[in-house]
Amino acid sequence: MKLRSIQLVSFLLTLFLASTLIGCSLEKKQTLGFQNFYPGKLWSDADSVHINAHGGGILYYDNTYYWFGEHKSAHTSSAQVGVNCYSSTDLYNWKHEGVALSVNDSVGSDIEACCVMERPKVIYNAETQQFVLYFHLELKGKGYSAAHVGIAISDKVTGPYTYLRSLRPNPGIWPQNMKGEQQTSTITTDNFSAWWTEEWMQAVKDGLFVRRDFEGGQMSRDMTLFVDDDGKAYHIFASEENLTLHIAELSDDYLSYTGTYIRVAPGGHNEAPAIFKKNGKYFMITSGCTGWDPNAARLFSAESIWGPWTQHPNPCVGPDADLTFHSQSTYILPVAGKDDAFIFMADRWTPKKPIEASYIWLPIQFENGLPVLKWQDQWDLSVFNETK
Ligand code: DGJ
Repeated sequence: MKLRSIQLVSFLLTLFLASTLIGCSLEKKQTLGFQNFYPGKLWSDADSVHINAHGGGILYYDNTYYWFGEHKSAHTSSAQVGVNCYSSTDLYNWKHEGVALSVNDSVGSDIEACCVMERPKVIYNAETQQFVLYFHLELKGKGYSAAHVGIAISDKVTGPYTYLRSLRPNPGIWPQNMKGEQQTSTITTDNFSAWWTEEWMQAVKDGLFVRRDFEGGQMSRDMTLFVDDDGKAYHIFASEENLTLHIAELSDDYLSYTGTYIRVAPGGHNEAPAIFKKNGKYFMITSGCTGWDPNAARLFSAESIWGPWTQHPNPCVGPDADLTFHSQSTYILPVAGKDDAFIFMADRWTPKKPIEASYIWLPIQFENGLPVLKWQDQWDLSVFNETK
């Protein structure tokens, strides 16, 4: 009997010690938070909620990273809330800062709930001290036909942002790299009863849609922003029915266009552009156009933002490289304070449950001077200590 109670007491003691130890380690884990990236897994914010910032981009400002992205709902990809903002100082752990730009309730407003607000990007203008937000806007009930860019501003990085306007860029202006005979060609979309024929594709390459949209401005869908070392900013977007990318220079206050722009990869059918600069050279990773389904990434490089842009093979290598590891590019983030350290950011879309879409962040490696992406189940920023 005595032996029994000694055994019971020692069992209870062990149980108590074990639970205390587990409790301590859980507490420690919570304090430490994430110390790695886990591509494709659900990614909890400080409130233990999966980060909701899809098609996003990151602004580094005042020693903090701000991640802006599309708020996605459970059952629809149309905008029910707006553009979300998160902050972080280490890139692994993120705090929800709230909605940077909200949809509104006014019937007929450009950003009425149920419009499409995609791929938001924010840049900071040091002269005006304003944060400037660009995003792909489609008007409520109009599918993807508007092909507008929306512009909003704020004095505070996290917002709230004030919506200014939406537009199609560069009305009445020819791209720098469109030849005179392409500008004056009399071939119009009426000449073609079907798309995707050889003749039609040649006409697209020769500026068929630039001419069609000349008066009203060029279509602007998937997009990113890029600020160069000299402070000049560029809007890079899928134009011409998603067939050709445009790079357009922004005005000094970043709120309009200077009218200088080029076409990149005419007829190449690229979307989801993400761009970075390393040692004076520009690199751009894009996707093909297959809706929410993944496809093989494309890589371009140029010595000048104005081109010529050269296409290289798919930068992804290894299993599922032909599907960009089941994701689509959205942004390339230079890691602050580290030379030549860039993170490729992409979305793994889940259109049946948009809110569950996950994030594929991978370190960009370089081989023979070109970016290479390799799958990692888990990684941390120390990889950049090894690469050059
Ligand atoms: C692919 C684009 O990259 C996304 O941003 C979104 O517009 C989907 N297409 C819609 O199908």
